[in-house]
Amino acid sequence: MRVGILTGGGDAPGLNAAIRAVGRLTLAGGGSVVQVRDGWKGLIGDGDLAELHESSFEGILNLGGTVLGSSRTNPMKIEGGIEQCLRNIERAGLDALVAIGGDDTLSVAKRLADDGAPVVGCPKTMDNDLSVTEYCIGFDTAVGIVAESLDRVRTTAMSHHRSVVVEVMGRDTGWVALDGGVAGGADFIVIPEFPPHLDELVEHVRWRYSSGRRYSIIIAAEGTEMPELGGREDAGGERDAFGHVRLSKRGVAERLAEAIEERTGHETRSVAPSYIQRGGTPSAYDRLWATRCGTVSHALAKNGAFGKMPAVRCGKVDTVPIADVVAEQRLVPRDLYEMTRAFR
Ligand code: F6P
Repeated sequence: MRVGILTGGGDAPGLNAAIRAVGRLTLAGGGSVVQVRDGWKGLIGDGDLAELHESSFEGILNLGGTVLGSSRTNPMKIEGGIEQCLRNIERAGLDALVAIGGDDTLSVAKRLADDGAPVVGCPKTMDNDLSVTEYCIGFDTAVGIVAESLDRVRTTAMSHHRSVVVEVMGRDTGWVALDGGVAGGADFIVIPEFPPHLDELVEHVRWRYSSGRRYSIIIAAEGTEMPELGGREDAGGERDAFGHVRLSKRGVAERLAEAIEERTGHETRSVAPSYIQRGGTPSAYDRLWATRCGTVSHALAKNGAFGKMPAVRCGKVDTVPIADVVAEQRLVPRDLYEMTRAFR
């Protein structure tokens, strides 16, 4: 069996563990492994593919990023892009292609599988917003980094009696802010699913100062819409091939910090861990579950179960149609968000 592997979209810690699982299991079964470089970009034009060997998978389990490279190339937005992908898959003699990615990458995988290509998926996104699966590669590491960031911000905020707004990733959902905020003891969590009224946030900061707590840590997801934060268009108009603006350019934390300082009179700063959230060493949890998902992606490829992907549900790795996973986004439920109020 000849298996191609690609990683698309934003990189995430744990990707290499999944690549290693698919690669090693394929080689162990007497097959060959092909690297598709930089996501779907590697299947456009003449293609950019290369043979991988046993040594390619050595020492990568604990390595962040993706050894295959990544991009946000969208073949569905390139004239003849899908046909080029189909042609390159055939020309490379691939019996299966494992596409590891989030909703953008997987929506292309679904389209190719619908067109008869031997494509299977694997769930990755530090945003953790794929539906059906309870696990996405990269999320656990990101939450750990965010929690540690809050620990570090807290000591300096306490020392200077300041408030600090910490901006984290989360284009449409607030999973990183919510889980990172709870684990890091944030005093107020701002997420796209339930954007607060600015008055409520300001009131809470005031209350903390008046009750003797002389600092506050606010965590805010970059995708949150509030009148004071402007629209997504304020991100500058530059869009990637999937139509997404660069939300980090909105300056959500900066704007919130300015508004809080102006309204409360208390010094307020902002910080954004940005790419640090998805860079560096994957957590043990990400290594483990990426390996388990990669193992199931390999089995799907071997069994010719195309158009399917692993999904973690109730502690088990099930297999589900890619179509189900990309059909909608998994949002933070209200009860979980409400729970965080008790810890303000
Ligand atoms: O992969 C999703 C994500 O992490 C979003 O939360 C964020 O908006 C985006 O990536 C930023 O990534 P890049 O700058 O690489 O496009």
